[in-house]
Amino acid sequence: MTSDVTRATSRASSFAARLVHWQRQAGRSGLPWQDTRDPYRIWLSEIMLQQTQVTTVIPYYLRFLERFPDVAALAAAPLDDVLSAWSGLGYYTRARCLHRAARQIVEQHGGRFPEAFDAVLALPGIGRSTAGAICAFAFGQRHPILDGNVKRVLARHAGIEGWPGEPAVLAALWTESAARLPPAQATEGSHPDIGTYTQGLMDLGAGPCARSRPRCDECPVAADCVARIAGQAGSIPAPRPRREVPRRSTPVWLLLDEERGILLERRPPSGIWGGLWSLPESLDAVSEARIRDSAGALQPLPAVEHAFTHFRLRIEPLLVRMQCLQGADAAAAAETGAADRCWFHLERLPEIALPAPVRVLLSTLGGAGACVPGQPATARSP
Ligand code: ADE
Repeated sequence: MTSDVTRATSRASSFAARLVHWQRQAGRSGLPWQDTRDPYRIWLSEIMLQQTQVTTVIPYYLRFLERFPDVAALAAAPLDDVLSAWSGLGYYTRARCLHRAARQIVEQHGGRFPEAFDAVLALPGIGRSTAGAICAFAFGQRHPILDGNVKRVLARHAGIEGWPGEPAVLAALWTESAARLPPAQATEGSHPDIGTYTQGLMDLGAGPCARSRPRCDECPVAADCVARIAGQAGSIPAPRPRREVPRRSTPVWLLLDEERGILLERRPPSGIWGGLWSLPESLDAVSEARIRDSAGALQPLPAVEHAFTHFRLRIEPLLVRMQCLQGADAAAAAETGAADRCWFHLERLPEIALPAPVRVLLSTLGGAGACVPGQPATARSP
């Protein structure tokens, strides 16, 4: 009788060859990070692509490289400039880690991107899968990867049920990923197929092996895909178990001034939206009281919901058109006090690092509008 191990090994053995062949015929080509082996460029692409679609990433990637063409330029730049270049891509922790890692490369590796897998893995913002992808694409090293799409491909092909966030499921998927690598070369040096193979795995997950309605007829490894054979391609892998997340709410103040624009506040460096510009959640008590008493100046806008990993935040915006306040009230409200508050003209918002829901909120603002109680300000894109 054929053992499970034998079956898994034979399934894995030709997997790489079929995937490499398919990638060359049908995989993605011509992406800006595919025609280089410069580890800096590959690293940047892998970080940008962690939570963002290829089509969104491309223009950001090209602009970022113009502004910071190498590790030295990135390390020398102020964090604010890096966050500004990242502005609109979201998940700014990625940009902060990228910047820290660039400085670490300068300090610890003499400015040369390290080649050793463990040294790459030790850089901020780089996990096992990203380190594997960088080492495969840049140096031809043979390492497994396991990003979200690849988890799905392998869970289906190997028939691994359960949610990939479960440690036991994750460990099984890493084992499958390692087992499917193209065979090691007899000689040392760059592996001829590992880059194409790694890209093929990503392309399969982003294409035919889609989360819903997988297109198994286009898949090069469908013949021995356990999930497909069992008619379970649509139900493997299992989704994240649903759980109740706590809900919080906060007011945010949109102080809008015809001359000066919008009042923003820089968030503390760590914690939610660390270091980003956001809307003040409170003003001093006197200002708030004066604004609330000032007919026509204060206008609540529709709430915006935002999901964090551990809670849901309901943002309740309060728009204040500064020209509608009486002189003394305006002066009090505009007393921004803290050094980390600043007025920004609306045209500048695209280049400022803002949390995604704040950007959405601000994109609905335009002119200061008229002081009519209960009337929204004129909507205009910044
Ligand atoms: N997602 C992560 N890495 C990628 C790459 N190199 N090409 C396309 N999509 C990706």
